[in-house]
Amino acid sequence: MPRTLADAPIMILNGPNLNLLGQRQPEIYGSDTLADVEALCVKAAAAYGGSVDFRQSNHEGELVEWIHEARLHHAGIVINPAAYSHTSVAILDALNTCDGLPVVEVHISNIHQREQFRHHSYVSLRADGVIAGCGVQGYAFAVERVATLAGAARTEA
Ligand code: DQA
Repeated sequence: MPRTLADAPIMILNGPNLNLLGQRQPEIYGSDTLADVEALCVKAAAAYGGSVDFRQSNHEGELVEWIHEARLHHAGIVINPAAYSHTSVAILDALNTCDGLPVVEVHISNIHQREQFRHHSYVSLRADGVIAGCGVQGYAFAVERVATLAGAARTEA
């Protein structure tokens, strides 16, 4: 049985270097911090009667273990795998264990306008949707999409 937003939070995972959001290449990633992004996600989920479990790690294995946790306990996953998007078969394999769980991949920057090596994402092979180039607002779009895929209707304007 798929979990709903009433039963379980949305897991929001952030990969390496995103702890430095706001300080890191602000010309590419903007001036909002990861705490600002978390607040945005909390608000976006609340509009669907849901909540979020917001995490960041610089370690691939920790992200893999959190995906395993989401497989059992969360209503869906929003993931910005950061540089691991372009390298990690392990994260793709972990997501592929999550049968039926809504997964949306988000990138703050438009990875398709950047270096060639950023154009390919392993995670996109599993993601139900991909949002790139919308700045941190992309996280709110991703939360809305996961909420919709998890069967929730918007409860607030
Ligand atoms: C990113 C894009 C990746 O290529 C990069 O390695 C990141 C952030 C983004 O949000 O635009 O760390 O995922």
